[in-house]
Amino acid sequence: MRSKISVIGAGFVGSTLVQRLAERDYADVVMFDIVPNMPQGKALDIRQAGPVLGYDSLVTGTNDYTDTASSDIVVITSGFPRKPGMTRDDLVKKNQEVITQVTEQVVKHSPNSIIIMVTNPLDAMAQLALHISGFPRERVIGMAGVLDTARFRTFIAQEVGASVRDVQAYVLGGHGDTMVPLSRLCTVAGVPIDKLISAERIEQIVQRARDGGAEIVKLLGNGSAYFAPSASILQMVDSILLDKKMILPCAVYLQGEYDIRNLFVGVPAQLGAKGLEKVIEVELTAGEQTLLQKSADAVKELVQVMGI
Ligand code: NAI
Ligand code: 2OP
Repeated sequence: MRSKISVIGAGFVGSTLVQRLAERDYADVVMFDIVPNMPQGKALDIRQAGPVLGYDSLVTGTNDYTDTASSDIVVITSGFPRKPGMTRDDLVKKNQEVITQVTEQVVKHSPNSIIIMVTNPLDAMAQLALHISGFPRERVIGMAGVLDTARFRTFIAQEVGASVRDVQAYVLGGHGDTMVPLSRLCTVAGVPIDKLISAERIEQIVQRARDGGAEIVKLLGNGSAYFAPSASILQMVDSILLDKKMILPCAVYLQGEYDIRNLFVGVPAQLGAKGLEKVIEVELTAGEQTLLQKSADAVKELVQVMGI
């Protein structure tokens, strides 16, 4: 039997992801949104690309959660973006309503699924989904680190004129201004980047990676990034569905690892058929640990706003 993936939210990230999933041809995909007819229209359009691109994935659009029943993986991208004049706390409260409602439906219709959270503020929304669902931590994982790391890797590759495939890096912490790109462990084909790039330039690249989402928001003028985000979600789905056991930076519920307890924070995690299979503990310097703790404190503040 084919696997089943549901994507909640058929906006920019959700629909781009569905197109990428269909091209993988390893699962049937259901795309849900509250806007009448819109997910149906997008799904039909994606299905009609199948004969040209050669995939048979059945892609369905719906406004009815019963169509998402018995999904193996549910990716949640539904929610509101931060608008001018809106504080971060306002956004948390608004998306708290959406994610609460969505998670209740996911639990009802796909009680054995693995949830990949994407909606912002990412770490707080992942924490909320874990709280509402009652799922074990292995089955609620947040996407942010793959994207933040991809941005960092892009800028490093560009700087040294290397292939992005040769750049290894990790960005840890929450998905926000306090994220922690670990430049000490970043290498180009095994060569540490401090042998290739000046310290001053590395610091500028680190800052550009931290501001990566905002840079795109500013350029687009209306909305946020979706090509790299959907590619990043896809890599997590690949690792779970194909049991590849990739080690990817993800937001996971820490229970003492990195001296952080009961909080979602981005760290390297091994993803396989069971979802989160292992938290990888990289030895950090005291400075890096302090930055990670600061980032965790920022996540904690948002979680407190939700009162959970
Ligand atoms: P979008 O506005 O294009 O799409 C959001 C969709 O959610 C809309 O189609 C809307 O109708 C739907 N929606 C709203 N309330 C809903 C509900 N109760 N149930 C089901 N659907 C509902 O936004 P976009 O660009 O697709 O981004 C989606 C989310 O992903 C945002 O919160 C964004 O900030 C976040 N994001 C997170 C990233 C990460 O690294 N974690 C990267 C990129 C985006
Ligand atoms: C990003 O980093 C908005 O979280 C989104 O592009």
